[in-house]
Amino acid sequence: MYRTYHVTTFGCQMNAHDSERIKGMLESLGLGESDRPETADVLVFNTCTIREKPDTRLAAYLGDAAARKRRHPDTVIAVGGCYAEAQRERIFELYPFVDVAFGPGSIPHLGDWISAGGFAVDRGRFGSHEHFAADLPTYRERRHQAWVQISMGCNSACSYCIVPAVRGREQSRRPGEIVAEVTRLAAEGVREVTLLGQNVNSWGRDLRPALDTEFGELLRAVDRIDGIERIRFTSPHPKDFRSPVIAAIADCAAVCEHVHLPLQSGSTRVLKRMRRTYSRARYLGLVDRLRSAIPDVALGTDVIVGFPGETDRDFEETLEVVEEVRFDSAFTFIYSPRRGTEAAEMPDQVPDDVKGARLERLVESVQRIAAERNVQRVGRFEQVLVEGPSRTDPALRRGRTRRNTTVNFEGSAAPGELVDVLVEGATSTTLRGREASLVAA
Ligand code: 5AD
Ligand code: SF4
Repeated sequence: MYRTYHVTTFGCQMNAHDSERIKGMLESLGLGESDRPETADVLVFNTCTIREKPDTRLAAYLGDAAARKRRHPDTVIAVGGCYAEAQRERIFELYPFVDVAFGPGSIPHLGDWISAGGFAVDRGRFGSHEHFAADLPTYRERRHQAWVQISMGCNSACSYCIVPAVRGREQSRRPGEIVAEVTRLAAEGVREVTLLGQNVNSWGRDLRPALDTEFGELLRAVDRIDGIERIRFTSPHPKDFRSPVIAAIADCAAVCEHVHLPLQSGSTRVLKRMRRTYSRARYLGLVDRLRSAIPDVALGTDVIVGFPGETDRDFEETLEVVEEVRFDSAFTFIYSPRRGTEAAEMPDQVPDDVKGARLERLVESVQRIAAERNVQRVGRFEQVLVEGPSRTDPALRRGRTRRNTTVNFEGSAAPGELVDVLVEGATSTTLRGREASLVAA
């Protein structure tokens, strides 16, 4: 008889949301969440394979899971997500103690495979992409914020990226379904939604019959839903950032002034080899359009260093773009070859020490600029959605600004409330402040 489960999640927000659905499935089977993997009957690993690092971390976690299974042979070990899908031919050879493996597209079947109540586990089942299954039971960790998936898969062909191979072709969800889900969430007390897709701004183009609407219109429709105070979305692709989307962000009161705009490289030559289909100049032009249409917009980005064939000159161009745009936040990555992608086969791979040195210089720029950008907020009032106690000091509250910066602050507002906070201090990643009501007039 299986009673408890534990889910370990790797990777991006899409995976975090998939884990909410995995948990929803398990709860609907009558299992309860255990906060410790050492004692759970069903161990699920929702994996990522975007770079090599998550693969190695997973191997360590699975080692622990195998040890638990040796002590308690009834333990069920399930491996889902992107790594499982990428390794679908080999997963049971690599990890013979795994009972169930499933790709990101087959969460709806998980319940059939892991049956609670002592039935046999259907060892080795593997399912993959099917039609868009949106209405799964979902176990939401956060009361006032929710992810809403608007599409799955990706039609881009970035030469470094494994995602199209593991998550399949883009499939959009119909607008009526999305609006219905957000309306339901609003009724449950959700105040902030994040629309999720591998490429949100190409949303809808695959739907048949063809829609007479696009992502900008979807933002407007969600903005009209009562009770939703904040709308975020991730990630857009620079190549699909058309004017109606920018206009919608500017016009809609609930859409936050924050755009995550993956740059990847500042060299047009490298961008071409990455198959990003925009140039450095086009990216910079887009940044100008965003900044002139959306006052005070915060820009985030992703950057890869050490892509095959990247020269010192190419890397300097990336640094130049970082210095010119002055991003509010940036995720920086060392290029990691992924089996089956075009770039992994390119001849001129960059040596590890060169990659490491480039990353160090990039991180230095990114952090210095982010800290300077945050210091500029000091002395201003920012609207904050309260999330809970501060992670570092329980006497403080924690929340996020519309520009997506975490703020730790003095005050008494409850989770889910929107309060104005006076910013009094800043680091490269967080702000410090106090609630407006505590500030002497
Ligand atoms: N190596 C390093 N970084 C990668 N990313 C995607 N694929 C790779 C890879 N093979 C980065 C990109 C993407 C982010 C989610 O991960 O910057 O935007
Ligand atoms: Fe997310 Fe990509 Fe990792 Fe899959 S491989 S979890 S889509 S980051």
